[in-house]
Amino acid sequence: MKIRVLGSAAGGGFPQWNCNCPNCDGLRKGTLNAKARTQSSIAASGDGENWLLFNASPDVLQQIQSFPALQPGRALRDTGIAAILLIDAQIDHTTGLYMLREHRQKHPLWCTKQVREDLTHGNPIMNLLEHYCGLDWHDIPLGDSFSMPGIDGLRFEALPLISNAPPYSPHRDKPEPGDNVGVTLIDTASGKRVFYAPGLGQMEDHVWAAMQAADVVLVDGTLWTDDEMIRLGASQKTSRAMGHMPQSGPDGMIEWLDRLPASTRKILIHINNTNAILDEDSPERAELTRHGIEVSFDGMDIEV
Ligand code: MLT
Ligand code: MN
Ligand code: ZN
Repeated sequence: MKIRVLGSAAGGGFPQWNCNCPNCDGLRKGTLNAKARTQSSIAASGDGENWLLFNASPDVLQQIQSFPALQPGRALRDTGIAAILLIDAQIDHTTGLYMLREHRQKHPLWCTKQVREDLTHGNPIMNLLEHYCGLDWHDIPLGDSFSMPGIDGLRFEALPLISNAPPYSPHRDKPEPGDNVGVTLIDTASGKRVFYAPGLGQMEDHVWAAMQAADVVLVDGTLWTDDEMIRLGASQKTSRAMGHMPQSGPDGMIEWLDRLPASTRKILIHINNTNAILDEDSPERAELTRHGIEVSFDGMDIEV
């Protein structure tokens, strides 16, 4: 299977339009050794032709332009995006649906019932799109493996995980199973598995089992410390309260990734603009390297 990281940043992107944290300021001034990043999305394909878009980022048009496989040009109006899967109902994962409204038929849209609820009430994007191309909703079966018409060579297993629901959801700060999912992508020819979870607030047994079974884990890299946003004065919330395990500290992502076999490829994604790991010369980045953990970037190709 082929995976293209379209957007490796968390909500807001890097640099974030209104942010003057040391990272955003340093990137603008050219004093920081770091790469700009668009908001959270990947594309996956089993045949190299038909792509499943994971999350529809506010930056999706720029992301399509940067990845020619998504614009194959076989007809007057054409796309390589054969289906879309949403792992939650957050702004950074759904706003791009508006940008894809000119499609000639309904986009096949895979998300849980909980996400569909939020996208028909708090953020009624699914209703609005009925005035344009519309969406053909498919429920994501949690626990069972499933395939998608139009996406050849891949199977999927989605599992509920603990992160958070959006501010416009009735489940905000009390998420229910199905508000957030992680997905294992399985190459049907080779049996190789990639586990994708850009929002992971808490480790649970079934999540850990999926990570242990994977050849590649592409997981939550939002914040380095639990109190990062509070110390910066950017938010009152801890990383865990926002639904993101921090990398450092006890029970942090590094501790968990360290327990995986050395042969598992470990990659962070959904990186917030405040995170010190974005500075490629930072001690935090060096620490990840020592632990064999990669930091994804826009345009990264992962072949499994
Ligand atoms: C999150 O991952 O916590 C949200 O996407 C944050 C946001 O974009 O507002
Ligand atoms: Mn997010
Ligand atoms: Zn910033």
